[in-house]
Order: sequence, then C-alpha cells, then structure tokens
Amino acid sequence: MQEKIKDIHREVEGFIAKSAEEVESFRIKYLSKKGLLSGLFDDFKNIAAADRKEVGVQLNNLKNTLQDKLNNLKEQFENTQDAGKSNHDLTLPVNYIETGSRHPLSLTRAKIIEIFSRIGFTVSEGPEIEDDWHNFSALNFPEEHPARDMQDTFFIEKNPDIALRTHTSSVQIRVMETEKPPIRKLFPGRVYRNETISSRAHCFFHQVEGLYIAKDVSFADLRQVLFYFAKEMFGEDTKIRLRPSYFPFTEPSAEMDISCFLCGAKGCSFCKYSGWVEILGCGMVDPSVLENCHIDSKVYSGYAFGMGIERITNLKYQVKDIRMFSENDVRFLKQFSSVI
Ligand code: PHE
Repeated sequence: MQEKIKDIHREVEGFIAKSAEEVESFRIKYLSKKGLLSGLFDDFKNIAAADRKEVGVQLNNLKNTLQDKLNNLKEQFENTQDAGKSNHDLTLPVNYIETGSRHPLSLTRAKIIEIFSRIGFTVSEGPEIEDDWHNFSALNFPEEHPARDMQDTFFIEKNPDIALRTHTSSVQIRVMETEKPPIRKLFPGRVYRNETISSRAHCFFHQVEGLYIAKDVSFADLRQVLFYFAKEMFGEDTKIRLRPSYFPFTEPSAEMDISCFLCGAKGCSFCKYSGWVEILGCGMVDPSVLENCHIDSKVYSGYAFGMGIERITNLKYQVKDIRMFSENDVRFLKQFSSVI
C-alpha cells in the first residue's frame, strides 16, 4: 500500500497537461469515485490496525497532493484559455492605423493637371537651375529688367548666367526649342525668388504653366480654356474676368480674376470687397519669343498662362499662412487626407 502511494506521488509530480481534456482525464484517473485514490481508501479497511495511523496520514497527504495538483492544472488551463480567447477574438476592433495623406500642394497640382489633361494637355518638366537665356533672355526680359536684379533672383555662385529659375516660363522655351507645333503642354514645378519670407511670400513656391502653340490660335481660345479651368477648379457658377497686364513674353497680356466664391461676388474681406480674386497671368505668346525658339511666327501663334499652386490652394482652402506648406506640421497636413 505504502509503495503504491509513493508510486502515485512520483507519477503525478511531473505530470503536465496539454489540454483541458487531459486535465479531466487526470481527475478521472486519480480523483473520481472509481479512481485510484478511492481504490486506496477502499483498501485502507484491510490495513492492519498497527499501521493504520501511519498509512492514514500518507493517504491523506496523497489526497491533498492530488487535489492541489488538479487545482493547479485547472487554473493554468483556464488562464491560457482566456488569453487565447482574447488574442484571437475576431470580433474585437483592430488597432487603428493612421493612413498617410498627400501634401495639399501635390493634390492641387494633380487636380490642375487632371483638368487640363482632359482637353489634351500633357506634362513636361525642366531644370530648377537655369541659364539666363531660358529664364530671361529668350522670354524678352530686357537687360535692365528688375526681375534680373539680385533682389529677385538667386544666382548660383555669383555667376550671372546661372540661377534658380524664377518661373516655369523657362520650360516653355526648352519645349519650343525642341518640339514642333502643335504644342499643348503643362509645366508644373518649383520656382525660387529672393523674397523675405512672410505669411504671404516665400523664397520658393510652385507654379503650373500652360502653353498652346498651333496655327490660328486666338485670344478667344485662351479665354475659353481658362473659363473651363476656372469652372472645373472652383465650381460651375464661377465667373472670370481678364484685366490687361504686362509680361515681357506675352502680347497682349492679362491677369485673370475669378468671382469670389466665399461671398458669391458680393464683396467680403477675402476679396477685399471687390467680388473678385486674382488667380493667374496669361497672354498670347509674343512673336519674338516664337522666333527665339525658331518657330515661324507668321505661321504659328499661341497662348501661355501661369499660376501659383500655393495661391490656388489658398483660395480653395483659405490657408492663412503660406509657410504652413513647407513646415510639415502633421496637424496641418492631416486635414487634407480626403480632399479634392
Ligand atoms: N511667368 C509669369 C509669372 O511668373 C506668369 C505667366 C506665365 C504669365 C505665362 C503669362 C504667361 O508671374
């Protein structure tokens, strides 16, 4: 009897259950009514009186050991079962993953390109470091024009011939020099001007330039394309107004205003109570610019327009400070995740 008790102690000591079913088998084997323990208690009746006390103690110890072991196994299993459950509960919400968003200027640039691509414009790009010819001379900027002044232009290593481009009109020249009309292109890109940084001006910003060169292109064509753009960009009810202006490379030149969409052109602080806001510069390409690029100005004519991407974005979303676009403050950028 005492040998049997010792054997059972040894057996259960290292027992490990791998599942709740194995815990139950353990209980049945040792602690159920027909289990080994109750079998031993049955046999206890036959123990000689002299040994009863000692064997009785051993039997009670075994009973406690088995009961403790069973409790431990149960507990351990309940715990792991619980943990397993919470790890795999498919009904629990997933961890929230914050999605990234495109930069507001990229969104506006993409929208402008998309609008013009619907009427046949394709995109070309040019270098940000330009020579005097492409940025100024070929575009009819006279030698003494203030835009050539150190005030406005960043020159590279004091070389007056190499500068950071001050506008995307330089790409007009590059494309007209290398491609034959008809040309129907958009030139988006970053430009640089030596200006004091403030809420309204920055030393770099972005433009999209448009150029159309073909036979018999008229100012009416330009006006119609810009009217189409304004409606697509700012809404069906948008009106446009062209005011005479001056650019060295277009003749005639104009600036385009759109009706203020904030006040419905009634006049508000945004449009400075005029009902109109300026959005771009444009004009018919000056014949001498065509000639500079070896395009026969007696056969071909064309128009060009240029707009600031920051300005268009500001108008659409009333961003008060242009510096926000380059500060990369996530709180600002996040607001544009689903727009346009
Ligand atoms: N390049 C001009 C600017 O930077 C904009 C413009 C482009 C004007 C094309 C007319 C035609 O202000």
